[in-house]
Amino acid sequence: MSTEARGVTKRFGERIALRDVSLSVAEGELLAIIGPNGAGKTTLLSILAGILEPDAGELSRPMREIGWVPQQPAVYGKLSVRENLLLFARLERVADPAAVVERMLAQTGLADRADDELGTLSGGNRQRVNIAVGLLADPPVLLLDEPSSSLDPRQRERLWRFVDGLARENRTAVVFTTHNVAEAERWADRVLVLADGEVVFTGTPAELRTAEHHEERTDFEGAFVRFLRERGH
Ligand SMILES: Nc1ncnc2c1ncn2[C@@H]1O[C@H](COP(=O)(O)OP(=O)(O)OP(=O)(O)O)[C@@H](O)[C@H]1O
Ligand SMILES: [Mg+2]
Repeated sequence: MSTEARGVTKRFGERIALRDVSLSVAEGELLAIIGPNGAGKTTLLSILAGILEPDAGELSRPMREIGWVPQQPAVYGKLSVRENLLLFARLERVADPAAVVERMLAQTGLADRADDELGTLSGGNRQRVNIAVGLLADPPVLLLDEPSSSLDPRQRERLWRFVDGLARENRTAVVFTTHNVAEAERWADRVLVLADGEVVFTGTPAELRTAEHHEERTDFEGAFVRFLRERGH
């Protein structure tokens, strides 16, 4: 198993953001976390990334083995793409930062934009820089929080093909969140549905469709919304 979390609970004051959440993701697997606003998706990824402490629960991997691509990345608009990557490579203390940066530029297709100021890039290219930062230390597990939310359909397709390649070829375990449930159905091997801080479903997209008992056959998004409604969310 590439990484595992067991019994994760997190409170913010009186509010319980996560209640007894467990998950696992295998090498080369794509796991989508879907659920309504405020369900706890970002909180869960932040805990898996090791940047937020849970109140209870256990994680199988230390922070340094996890790549983290937050929704609001910490990159610098006034630095070039290469300078940003070098900065983060040094912060992460990777061996031979310059070589790692050149490899990441090539891998993410950013070599020809390496000297451009980050702030001048399109959303799609900026998102590739964010992912490159998450991959600098060559982590076995990559976490992506709503990676496609600001991308147009073509850039979205490109992003998912890249992430899919990471999982299939590099055997990276990938956990991502999205509000685009069609995207989860298309790209994820398994989905985990979070609602009000609790796991209400884990399984394949096909199993989620059949977990929802109506005769009526609509799209995956319709099935997902009905699934939540039937369970009182
Ligand atoms: N730092 C914080 N302090 C207090 N409450 C917080 C904090 N971070 C998150 N919460 C609360 O925890 C709950 C879960 O938030 P979280 O951001 O994890 O949800 P989410 O599923 O990522 O939502 P969205 O789909 O809108 O991104 C929410 O009720 C949120 O208000
Ligand atoms: Mg979120």
